[in-house]
Amino acid sequence: MADDRLTTVSKPAPPTRVLSGIQPTGRFHWGNYFGAIRQYIELQAVGESYYFIADLHALTTVRDPDRLRGLVRDAALDLVALGLDPDRASLFVQSDVPEVTELTWLLMTVTPMGLLERCHAYKDKKSRGLAADAGLFTYPVLMSADILAYDATVVPVGEDQVQHIEVCRDLAGTFNHLYGEVFTLPKPRLVEAGARVPGTDGQKMSKSYDNTLDVFEDLAAQKKKIMRITTDSRPLEQPKEPEGDPLFDLFSLVAPESQRQEMAELYRRGGFGYGEVKKALVAAALDHFAAARQRRAQLEADPGAIDAILASGAVRARAKAAAVLARAKQACGLSRLPSVVSSSAGGRR
Ligand code: ADP
Ligand code: TRP
Repeated sequence: MADDRLTTVSKPAPPTRVLSGIQPTGRFHWGNYFGAIRQYIELQAVGESYYFIADLHALTTVRDPDRLRGLVRDAALDLVALGLDPDRASLFVQSDVPEVTELTWLLMTVTPMGLLERCHAYKDKKSRGLAADAGLFTYPVLMSADILAYDATVVPVGEDQVQHIEVCRDLAGTFNHLYGEVFTLPKPRLVEAGARVPGTDGQKMSKSYDNTLDVFEDLAAQKKKIMRITTDSRPLEQPKEPEGDPLFDLFSLVAPESQRQEMAELYRRGGFGYGEVKKALVAAALDHFAAARQRRAQLEADPGAIDAILASGAVRARAKAAAVLARAKQACGLSRLPSVVSSSAGGRR
């Protein structure tokens, strides 16, 4: 039972609502998983959560419809296989909630051009002399609508997205200032980058550098990539400090702690070849993702299962977004009489 003596003293804090979006622009690699996705999924335990696949945002870069459809489906399968629990969190596709694009327009009317001109995705592209479209320019407004539509309070993001959350807070603040307390201001939750995950060439793992190990890639292909990881020319007998060695760092991500310690000792003792470490890495990676691979295969074998998950996620998400959109439209003078709206639902639209 709520204690109403407390509610009269101070306004209760809004309940924790976690929201995160992931662009389906390529298959997930270890950098994406250990650097971001794993932490996002862990937050489903914190409170009501919404996770979506940002296909509208991806449309600014992926121009092949079949590829986009495939990437969205793969992202959904990957997330569920990796532990996102559709009974706990709503998993859906961004474009299945049209309320968000409508809300984007409302926000666009309070967005100063200068604010968007300072946003890095657009600025970077322009500084490289490339033509940017209005989709890329207004990307942060769509992202703001994504967040505000669900009254999200916590938005886990990587460093590169913090600027966009600031834009979102700015726009929500302006709208609220003009029209009253419509939107809940979100806070970014910076997922500590952990160590940056190295790629097979020792640089930061990134799909742009063609140096990735993908979470669900074919095992034989993955083994080949691991056996070809670039190493230094240290002689067999020479000891080596493990921390900072890309091969050891990758091993640390997938091996159990006891194996990690044994490997660290081996490095410090010397007398080992990198070939042994690579073989151990292949085996540890196989173990680490075995359950997820199995879940993914089961899900894939059940046609319609992932569609049903996404459909029920979208129903929950739309219910929330529709309520927030109605609040915003009412506040700024766009709402119609309820009788007009319901009588037009059948035909007049
Ligand atoms: P890519 O560099 O392959 O294009 P993205 O920019 O799509 O990767 O990455 C999405 C998120 O995954 C980033 O916001 C970041 O948090 C995380 N991430 C990507 N690569 C790495 C990495 N090598 N180490 C740690 N985190 C990473
Ligand atoms: N822009 C984010 C990225 O590229 C994806 C995204 C879209 C997002 N909408 C969001 C993330 C809302 C958090 C909240 O990673």
